[in-house]
Order: sequence, then structure tokens, then C-alpha cells
Amino acid sequence: MIYLNPAGLSPFRDEVQQAITRTLQTFRGLLFSESGIQHYRETLRQCRRTIADWLEASDDQCLAFMPNTTTACSLTLSRIPWQAGDRVVTTIHENSTILQEINELKSRGVEILSVNPETPTNLLPELEQIIQHQPIRAIVISHVSHLDGRIFPIELIQDLAQSHHILLIVDGAQAVGQIPVSFSHLRPDAYFFPGHKWCEGPMGTGVLITGKKDEHRGGPQRITENSPVYDQPDWTNMELGTHNIGLIAGLAKACDLKRQEGLKEPQLNAVRTQWKDRLRNLPGIRILEWDGPHAPGILSFICLNHPTEQRMNAIASDHDLSWKTFTHPSFPNHLAIRISWSTVTLTSELHAALSFLKQS
Ligand SMILES: Cc1ncc(COP(=O)(O)O)c(C=O)c1O
Repeated sequence: MIYLNPAGLSPFRDEVQQAITRTLQTFRGLLFSESGIQHYRETLRQCRRTIADWLEASDDQCLAFMPNTTTACSLTLSRIPWQAGDRVVTTIHENSTILQEINELKSRGVEILSVNPETPTNLLPELEQIIQHQPIRAIVISHVSHLDGRIFPIELIQDLAQSHHILLIVDGAQAVGQIPVSFSHLRPDAYFFPGHKWCEGPMGTGVLITGKKDEHRGGPQRITENSPVYDQPDWTNMELGTHNIGLIAGLAKACDLKRQEGLKEPQLNAVRTQWKDRLRNLPGIRILEWDGPHAPGILSFICLNHPTEQRMNAIASDHDLSWKTFTHPSFPNHLAIRISWSTVTLTSELHAALSFLKQS
């Protein structure tokens, strides 16, 4: 198989598997004995520190381990004391599982507004205009769109949200591990991401980073302010029950490998340019981009007619090529295809896939 979908799920490396196995082997002999509990806590402490260091988050106590992105989003939304009439602004670029969680809020009387930003320069004024017309409780937005890899200007949105005392909740599922993300300046009220995409960690892992404790003084309540143990570190309010420390150790190992080896953005961008050049010359295809920045490991396009759609489907099935097909909300009548690649994608496979397109 030629695998062009790390944006969905990435393979993980031997070192990650070894960290998982080693951690679980040790724990198997200890269980919840006194030394086992100590080992459990110490593993979580070290993993929290490793990931916080990589992301330049000075306060690792705000980092909670999650089983996946959607759970992190659901938990975050559940911690906010919503009132009927509250409004949430989101975008058409959110993942369906996240949108489902947002739409759940409607049953509590929360109104959901959705924007479809066409350019980075449009986005801020569009948000400002919405905020000026009506009070907004929260903005929920991806850092990188899963539809076409566009990077939203999260730091500017953070400034806007903070200046209007609006909660900012960011889905970093397509960002962390693909583009540089540093919590030295970025610090929304909640930011979450999975282990199994660009971090190249194991399935069943994720991270939720909550906002700084002293922010929004005089503004809305912080996300964990209503939680049962407010005076405890944030992670104790968010990390529910017993966790799989083996998988968490695997995630920490994957993040540490990323820290050591870097994200290799120029390498990924070079692949993007090659794909763009190839696709641009194919009839019946429209590349999906905005005039702002894009993440380096994602390129999406739509098939403008039925024969092109058939040709693309034939390429995938004839050559056992795995990419993501989907329906783009702005082009519901066309087949959309997202290709993605990462540092573990083989160059030979990328070249082979490009040549299949050329032959077509
Ligand atoms: C932007 C984005 N958010 C959330 C999700 C859902 O992630 P998870 O399976 O970790 O809940 C995805 C999955 O592809 C995604 O791309």
C-alpha cells in the first residue's frame, strides 16, 4: 500500500512501540502496590514534562492526557457553565466529530454561528463584525484545517478573543507535530491534539492544554474554574480515572523524537510543491487553497467532473493507494481528495504516486 494519509493516522516508530512495551512490562509487575502507584505517577509526571518542554509550555501542570481529540473537546465544552442565549463562533473547517460536540450545545440553548473564511485578511474583520453585533461566549476553531491544511492565524484570533473576554478553544489535531506550535506566546483557554496524527504517537492518546490561571481576570470564568477541585493543578480537573501509562509513554517518546529531529518543514514543503505542480497540469482538477499559509504535509483538491472522479478512484484502487476522499462543505457535489505525507512517508512511494497521476 502507498499510504498518503498521516493526517488521518500516522504509523509510529519502533522506538515508540518499545517505550510502550517497556512501560507496561514494568507496571505489570507492580500494579497498584505502593511502588506501582509511585511508578504510575512518576511516569505521568515525566511524560507531562517531556511534552510540555517540546511545546515550550512553561507550566506542565496545565497539560492533561486524553484518549483522543474529540474527548478533549467534549470535556472542555462540558466544563463551561453555558447559559441559554450564549453564542459560539466556529468555522466550516471543523472536523465532523468536533462539530457534533459543538452542535450538542444547541440543546442547552447555545446558538452556533459558523464562518467560512476565504482569506486570512477577511477572517479577523469577519470575526470582529460578528463580535460587534452580538456578545460571543466562545470561539472554537482549528489551528490547521483538516479540509485543506490552511493555517488559521491563531495568535491574532487569541488577541481578539482575549480583548473581548471570549473563550478561545483550539483544535490542534492537524497542527502539533506538523507545524511549529509553541505555548510561549500561544495560550488559548483550551488547546487539544491527538497522539496518532502528526506527533506519530500511538492511537488512544491525546493532550489538552488549558489556559493560564491568571488570565481573564474580570472576564469570563476560566474553563476549569467551575471544576470540583479548582485549587488543584488543571490536569487533575481534566484527566479522568486511570490512564494507560504505556500509551502515554509512547506518546512522550514520539514527541521527544520530534523535538530531537525537528519537523523537517522544508522537506515536506518541497513535496507539496511537487504535488501542486503535477496536479495543476491535470485537467478536471482544482487545488483547494486560500491565499494564506498552508501546512507543509497536506494538499487537497476537488475533481471537477465525473470522468476525473473516476480516474482518481481508479488510480487509488489499481495501485493500492490510500488517500482521504471526502465531501468538502463548499463543494458538496464534487469528490474531494486530501493527500498528506510526513517525515516517515517513503520518497519512493511519493514518486510512484506522482507517476501514476502523470500516466493518468
Ligand atoms: C482537525 C481534527 N479534529 C479532530 C479530529 C478527530 O480526532 P480524534 O480521532 O483524535 O478524536 C480529526 C480527525 O481527523 C481532525 O482532523
